[in-house]
Amino acid sequence: MPDVRIDESVTPAAHRAGLIAALEARRVDNRFHYVGELASSRWRELAAGHSPAQDADDGVVAYDDAAKAVIAALPDGPVHVIGLACGDGVKERRLLGALRSAGREEISATAVDVSVPLVVAADAAMAQVPGVVATEGVAVDIGAVPDLSPLLSPWLPGTRVVTLFGVISTLGPGSLAPAVSLLATGDLLLVSANLLPDRAEARDDVMAQYDNPPTRAWLSTVLEEIGIHDAGDITFRWDDAPGGPMIVGEVTPAQAVMAQVEGVTVGLSAGAPIRVLESFRHTPETLEALLVREGLEVLQVTVSPSGEEGVAVCRCAP
Ligand SMILES: C[S@@+](CC[C@H](N)C(=O)[O-])C[C@H]1O[C@@H](n2cnc3c(N)ncnc32)[C@H](O)[C@@H]1O
Repeated sequence: MPDVRIDESVTPAAHRAGLIAALEARRVDNRFHYVGELASSRWRELAAGHSPAQDADDGVVAYDDAAKAVIAALPDGPVHVIGLACGDGVKERRLLGALRSAGREEISATAVDVSVPLVVAADAAMAQVPGVVATEGVAVDIGAVPDLSPLLSPWLPGTRVVTLFGVISTLGPGSLAPAVSLLATGDLLLVSANLLPDRAEARDDVMAQYDNPPTRAWLSTVLEEIGIHDAGDITFRWDDAPGGPMIVGEVTPAQAVMAQVEGVTVGLSAGAPIRVLESFRHTPETLEALLVREGLEVLQVTVSPSGEEGVAVCRCAP
């Protein structure tokens, strides 16, 4: 197994305390859907088979266009790609491949995610790109550690290209601060977001990506792991929240259930929903506004052909 640096925010004790707090608040944070082996493998299958972001005729077009902008904006010299909340690293692997094809030679890559199995997978994916040196991966909860710079030290020379793909929709704009903490003047940041296209049937199209058996199975994994198989089906709905439209997934137990979190029992009463998913939808304009608010220079925002995926390329201004 490749080396993974485990931050205190992802130790078993931190995980247990976080999950108990989440259940007591009846709101399962996004990170709990990725940390376990089963949850991460179900997510990988789902993303590979169904995610518009991994569709060669859709999301991939936008990510490839962003890679071209990165290549155009990069100065000469070494490049260090840091995949933040990188999942299994498929998008970073493609970006690294594009850098190599463009003739870049000194390339290193670091996988960072809350999930150890996903850090390991991403590290392996990135190391497959010829000429890329994959460094020790980092497992960290970016919700708990807004300044990631100490974890990435000693810093490698050259320009950093930080990626934050598919995360802002679920972790919120707060996930930008840890990404920005890794940038020095001239470094690049790529951020992607789920978009809500401006067409009549868009909400139905997006809902169909959630309201289906494989997504239910993935989101139920954490509930199964804590012994609440019988809490009921997950239902999905649109919610026009102050932060923008979002898909909400909830399960409402018909009877009281007892969750077992590594030796601790958490009772969940009947009748009130337990939220297992919140996924905001942006527009290219709201995505750009969030990035500008962080003081970043937005070089471009590319929208995929379906209009459902937006990928922004930004530079850290002096
Ligand atoms: C929708 S997936 C996106 C993965 C990858 N970036 C991609 O676009 O394919 C969300 C990722 O965020 C990670 N994640 C969720 N909460 C996190 C947290 N608090 N800290 C770090 N990573 C987190 C998950 O483990 C998962 O890999």
